[in-house]
Amino acid sequence: MTLDFLPRTAILEEIDGQVPDHHLFSFRLPDAFPIAPGQFAELTVPGIGGFAVSTAAFVGDHRFQACIRRIGRVTDALYRLPLGARVGLRGPFGKGFPLEEFLGRDVLLIAGGLGMAPLRALLQALVARRGEIGRLSLLYGAHDPQVILFKEELNALARQGLLDLHYTVDFAAEIPWRIGGIACQVGLLPKLLDDVRLQPRQTVAAVCGPPGLYRCVLDELAGFGLAAETIFASLERRMRCGIGQCCHCAVAGAYVCRDGPVFSLAQLRRMEGAI
Ligand SMILES: Cc1cc2nc3c(=O)[nH]c(=O)nc-3n(C[C@H](O)[C@H](O)[C@H](O)COP(=O)(O)OP(=O)(O)OC[C@H]3O[C@@H](n4cnc5c(N)ncnc54)[C@H](O)[C@@H]3O)c2cc1C
Ligand code: FES
Repeated sequence: MTLDFLPRTAILEEIDGQVPDHHLFSFRLPDAFPIAPGQFAELTVPGIGGFAVSTAAFVGDHRFQACIRRIGRVTDALYRLPLGARVGLRGPFGKGFPLEEFLGRDVLLIAGGLGMAPLRALLQALVARRGEIGRLSLLYGAHDPQVILFKEELNALARQGLLDLHYTVDFAAEIPWRIGGIACQVGLLPKLLDDVRLQPRQTVAAVCGPPGLYRCVLDELAGFGLAAETIFASLERRMRCGIGQCCHCAVAGAYVCRDGPVFSLAQLRRMEGAI
């Protein structure tokens, strides 16, 4: 982790705008930016402001890739930048997913909405070491079929037999699709848990999504018999410094930016009010 307050200059190199208001931005940096799945950076649009953003890719070179929802002042300004524009990047910050703990075990990923972005980085890291893990499953819930992120690449992994993939959407007039073995259901994300064959004692879970998802899914996973130390979730809080100096992200004696954003359920149970 760097303790540097000075942003590095990054060049906006590519924009994938397939999903409305959820574009995938690629930036190039002059030096390597070794950001791990679950870690985040502070991105500054010059003259406007900055925000925290997770890596959406496991790249480990001079690139930083993030899936960014257009939601407010700074993200809106970012969406207006042309290719070649300069932004500031500070980081990498925080503790990401403990990859070593996933090796040798079955892995269950649960993504709600934009939570798929950090889990894509984790998924890429796991696929790179696919031979070292057991069953790899992804349960992914989105608001509607139009905002499913990374659909083609997820489907490709499922078709290659690398990923057991289950989708659901909150809103759709009918079942959106069923192609080969990959189906998309209509309903709430926790219902997809009925579709996976879990061997709780040998499974590690990573969950990323809105707070409501954590409230219903984390304890349910523990109820299936997964150890609280092997269930991981990424928290989101308003952030400023990113390095445990400003107290903006304090929760129950911890700083989400420095001690997280990824925490185990065992840790979260000791942090009153965290979820
Ligand atoms: C560790 C971390 C990782 C993140 N990763 C991503 C990512 O990969 N992609 C992405 O698009 N966004 C991500 N975010 C969220 C992003 O930082 C915020 O949405 C940011 O506020 C956008 O800036 P803005 O100026 O465009 O919007 P703002 O004008 O700041 O906010 C727009 C709206 O969102 C609300 N809001 C903003 N931040 C939060 C928050 N932390 N909790 C609750 N409500 C909030 C505001 O109240 C307002 O209603 C992440 C946040 C954290 C803390
Ligand atoms: S963002 Fe400043 S302490 Fe966490």
